[in-house]
Amino acid sequence: TRIYREGVYGRKPRVPVDPRRLSLAARSAISRRAWNYLRGSAGAESTAAANRAAFERHRIVPSMLRDVSSRNLGIELFGRAVPAPLFLSPIGVLELVHRHGDLAVARAAAATGVPVTLSTQASYSMERVAEVAPDAVRWFQLYWSSDDDLVTSMLRRAEESGCEAIVITLDTHVLGWRPRDLDAGFLPFAHGQGIAQYTADPVFASLVRRRAERPASSPAPTPTPQALRALWSMSRNHPGSLLANLRSPYPRAAVETFLDVFSRSSLTWDELDFVRQRTNLPIVLKGLQHVEDARRALDAGVDGILVSNHGGRQIDGALGALDALPGIVAEVDDRIPVLFDSGIRTGADACKALALGATAAGIGRPYAYGLAAGGAEGVRTVLEHLVAELDITMALAGIAAPSELEPGLLRPVHS
Ligand code: FNR
Repeated sequence: TRIYREGVYGRKPRVPVDPRRLSLAARSAISRRAWNYLRGSAGAESTAAANRAAFERHRIVPSMLRDVSSRNLGIELFGRAVPAPLFLSPIGVLELVHRHGDLAVARAAAATGVPVTLSTQASYSMERVAEVAPDAVRWFQLYWSSDDDLVTSMLRRAEESGCEAIVITLDTHVLGWRPRDLDAGFLPFAHGQGIAQYTADPVFASLVRRRAERPASSPAPTPTPQALRALWSMSRNHPGSLLANLRSPYPRAAVETFLDVFSRSSLTWDELDFVRQRTNLPIVLKGLQHVEDARRALDAGVDGILVSNHGGRQIDGALGALDALPGIVAEVDDRIPVLFDSGIRTGADACKALALGATAAGIGRPYAYGLAAGGAEGVRTVLEHLVAELDITMALAGIAAPSELEPGLLRPVHS
């Protein structure tokens, strides 16, 4: 109601309501390189297109005269009451988009009550985010490093800094083939961007120290000023030989160490127990699309599944993520929450994902666009618009609460 009232008085929103105009506003606010990183997907970007096509194919069939005068969007997720069935999916290297990056996003999360997932590739450490936005519901997204001690350390830090769930991303043990970034010769991490979770980590610091003593294997790219600042603060947190190393081999060693330990392609289902033994937090597996994997996830005793194809950034030619949802929902059969992301642009899209059985809908690029166009306020505005549109769509469809959403609300049409 507030959003409409402001319109009555001619007040324009902080960032555009229309998803296309929102993305244009973001595009004009950031560098071409940052835009391509944010907007780009894998290969010919056909998976990203399939994500959208799946939403277009499912159409809402509303019901009338249902008394929806009193509505409640709230749900319970991992033991926590949240005001809407939404969450912010992890997005790395947000410093490319806005200098306050993750801090601004977490502030918006705190203001709206929508949970935020902090990326392993963040531009600010989880501890710094906790300082700035202690009231935000924070989850930590883990990229499973090849170094066991580093994984253990990040899990411990997530618990100590007040994160409430661990989201393990499984679909990115190798970075997808992303032509926009490849053509620009751009790998943000190689410039020391998006490695703040690492530079704040004591285990990483000791790995870097060891690395700095070895001769470099290849010429390292010049770290950006932000990266140098992160590296400088790391040397302050972990003084001694690090400080001595800062002048030249150290930043290079940090980047090279990161590239060495970033991921582990050898992982199998048996190793999930490693994380289970190291945290009491709920564990969510992100990036599942195969029904068989959902069954394995249940067998492994995880606490949630996040159906996602990483916004089409990993495999080109994959199934639209929404089309992977119903099979997994059927397999899981209400035993654990099934979250969803990849392709949600509007409140009506979120409504469709929830109707197909998602417990909560993950917002990805739209909040990063809000961040680009308007900082923390921009993210907050995007979230408010999504919640408002979801509420209106449900009301018009004759639905008063997320628990009433079911597949009968939708009819698939042939496009
Ligand atoms: C991502 N995503 C992502 N996922 C993750 O687990 N860790 C990460 O660091 C990132 N980083 C990242 C950066 C950028 C620029 C994008 C666009 C996406 C994937 C993200 O969590 C989510 O799955 C997708 O964004 C969903 O697709 P849409 O809705 O944004 O198209």
